[in-house]
Amino acid sequence: MHGATGRVVFVGAGPGDPDLITLRGWRILCEADVVLYDSLVDARLLEDLDAELVFVGKRCGDHHMPQEAITELLVRFARDGRRVVRLKGGDPTVLGRTGEEALRLSQLGIPFEIVPGVSSAVAAPALAGIPVTHRGVADAVCILSAHRQEDEPELSIPPYHPRTTLVLLMALQTVGTWSPQLLERGYPADLPVAFVNAGATARQRVVVTTVARAAADARSAALDSPTLAVVGRVVSLRDKLAAYEGALLRSRHEDAPVMHMLAFTAGGAREESCPS
Ligand SMILES: C[S@@+](CC[C@H](N)C(=O)[O-])C[C@H]1O[C@@H](n2cnc3c(N)ncnc32)[C@H](O)[C@@H]1O
Repeated sequence: MHGATGRVVFVGAGPGDPDLITLRGWRILCEADVVLYDSLVDARLLEDLDAELVFVGKRCGDHHMPQEAITELLVRFARDGRRVVRLKGGDPTVLGRTGEEALRLSQLGIPFEIVPGVSSAVAAPALAGIPVTHRGVADAVCILSAHRQEDEPELSIPPYHPRTTLVLLMALQTVGTWSPQLLERGYPADLPVAFVNAGATARQRVVVTTVARAAADARSAALDSPTLAVVGRVVSLRDKLAAYEGALLRSRHEDAPVMHMLAFTAGGAREESCPS
């Protein structure tokens, strides 16, 4: 449908598994005329849509489309009277540049809505058996970008607090930078770190290491994108809760191949297989 005024809805696609989009997000997606989507969006969400699909994804170092061009596309489609969905991985407002795009729409008087999503920042750790808070262990969570802008070289790493969990998004490329910075800010060398790669998908892999060994173990595990890092004492809960990880992922991906879970300790690597 093309009316006089279109509108833009920012929809969170969830952390990986297409089942983890919200009901509202899914309904709005199904009614869209055009969908601008990112690289972390699961293709199954787009399969049967009766909408024009525009890939505007970005991967580290490979910007398919500059941010300004994406924003101007949203404006153009909305001014054409179309129902536009801007579909982003996880929650659209968590390190997703939704604010910038929405501000431009607001300046131009173009209606928009935000439909929150399940952020990978909490979902990927949870599905790896790591709750980001746990009574008596951690009562605060700090989600931060490990990606450095040229004009903002410092990462926003808070000083160490034993009851705060850090979740670093875009954690892989800069692990050689942030892990020494953690030590400088008082984080214990043996504090556990878990890398969660492709969380909430059949490819999910988890590497458990320490602050001191994070860079070396991430390198030897040859992790790829998307990967986040959880830093804090909650990582140790995985020993008791990870049994649930295999069962959950198996039930969600019935035809998934054998899933490999890697657990690294200071002494070396241990690989476990979890048949589907
Ligand atoms: C630009 S941020 C966007 C985050 C997104 N808005 C969210 O709420 O999940 C992208 C980063 O999120 C993390 N990420 C997204 N999906 C992930 C997943 N399924 N497993 C692990 N990390 C993920 C990775 O660190 C990735 O580099």
